[in-house]
Amino acid sequence: MKPLNRDSMELEAPHDADEAGGVPSDKSPLYSSEGGAARARPLHGSGWLRVLLAFTALLALTLVFHGSGSRDSAARIPTRPLLGGGTIPMMMMGGDDFVEWFKAAGAGAAIQNFYSYGNGPHIAPQVHAFGREKVFISTGIPCGCCGYDAPKIQPMNSSLAMGYIDDVLRQLNTTYADLLLLHHRCHTANETASVWRAFEAAKRSGKARHIGVSNFNAHDLATLLSVAVEPVEVLEAHFGVGVMDFEVLELARKSGIQLVGFASLSMAGTDLPTLAPAVSKVAASHGITNTQVMYAYLYNRDIVVLSSCFHKEDPSRCASYYEVDLAVFDIRLSAEEMSELDNVTLGRRTCTDCFTDQCQECAKIIHQLGCPLLKAPGQPTLFPVWGRGNKQGTQCVACASLPQHRDDVIMACGSTLGGESFETMVPKACGI
Ligand SMILES: *[C@@H]1O[C@H](CO)[C@@H](O)[C@H](O)[C@H]1NC(C)=O
Ligand SMILES: *[C@@H]1O[C@H](CO)[C@@H](O)[C@H](O)[C@H]1NC(C)=O
Ligand SMILES: *[C@@H]1O[C@H](CO)[C@@H](O)[C@H](O)[C@H]1NC(C)=O
Ligand SMILES: *[C@@H]1O[C@H](CO)[C@@H](O)[C@H](O)[C@H]1NC(C)=O
Repeated sequence: MKPLNRDSMELEAPHDADEAGGVPSDKSPLYSSEGGAARARPLHGSGWLRVLLAFTALLALTLVFHGSGSRDSAARIPTRPLLGGGTIPMMMMGGDDFVEWFKAAGAGAAIQNFYSYGNGPHIAPQVHAFGREKVFISTGIPCGCCGYDAPKIQPMNSSLAMGYIDDVLRQLNTTYADLLLLHHRCHTANETASVWRAFEAAKRSGKARHIGVSNFNAHDLATLLSVAVEPVEVLEAHFGVGVMDFEVLELARKSGIQLVGFASLSMAGTDLPTLAPAVSKVAASHGITNTQVMYAYLYNRDIVVLSSCFHKEDPSRCASYYEVDLAVFDIRLSAEEMSELDNVTLGRRTCTDCFTDQCQECAKIIHQLGCPLLKAPGQPTLFPVWGRGNKQGTQCVACASLPQHRDDVIMACGSTLGGESFETMVPKACGI
């Protein structure tokens, strides 16, 4: 079964406006149609999204017709320093076909991959043709939960982790990753610590230039930092307007950890009522698209933007979207605007996604109570639950909070272990 590319390949509605008919294409249903389904969904959603799609398309066309001057794009992607020395580009691209991205971004173009995507062999020749040393490759290996994102043998340990590292590098036909990430925390802190030993060894032996983690909340990070010898250079997680983990932001600032935000547009696919007005207001005052606002929000907080584009049948169609993305670096949001966008995040949020045992258990109960969860697009089963982009997300949270459901939900979702709580877990399980 082909996995979902669940970090970058979802709800990139504006990027995929043209495909919004969303007819899943062919033989590899999950991998190829997931994007289609995800892309199709927002169109049946709010009118706001239609406007967003139209706007993005319009801007893309404008850029195409009027040209964008010199295409010295490499210089257009700023970088940030990393703890271990060296830098990371402020934008990475997810997808399968990167030839147009390499053209748009130039030398230093960053791409995103994970072991569980299974697309390394597809990407390898593209990287080779452009020149390995000109690409910043971010990849990563599995641990912990769930389904296709979980390692085959558990508990994980250093030698298993090193096996995955070697395997993913082999698939990508390269001797090193620019950035190696642990996709999720392991089931136990001890497992995570032993995997981190493999990451440190990979760094020392040159298999990884930089090492980091993904989907760690402040608690997970603090636990790892207490045993890490080599610096944890990067945390990639779910950051965006409406989903800001301010606790992790503070810890990252103090520890010098560089943040990368994935699925940063996911809230646009939900029924969160406060998002659209806040985002559209900023968009209108700058004359930019809602997508650009949501990406600029991250960039203005020094968080690396992870975008994506999937047009399997005609990758050249991504070119105009890349231009829209790259224009984000010219956007300066005021403190007032940032504060207004910050306020779309309600209460305490944690940046970990729902691919933890705890969140899946919580979702199970919420589902049993009849609250509306979201089935991952293209996935045959509801579980593991997708955990974001649910256009009935606030409805689901309201349902889970009903007095007659509350005891059950608190029992299943209210554990305060691992830095989570009822407040952080329910919205995650509900996909908002
Ligand atoms: C893999 O890399 C080697 C050189 O490092 C190159 O000769 C070979 O063509 C590459 N294979 C693919 C599929 O790109
Ligand atoms: C790691 O786990 C594998 C599979 O269970 C086992 O064969 C191996 O001995 C373990 N390695 C270490 C260092 O514990
Ligand atoms: C974790 O590892 C430590 C030291 O290696 C060991 O003493 C402890 O028992 C382990 N904890 C668990 C839960 O396995
Ligand atoms: C955001 O919320 C804070 C706290 O409620 C408030 O002080 C601040 O004025 C709000 N910012 C904006 C721009 O409304």
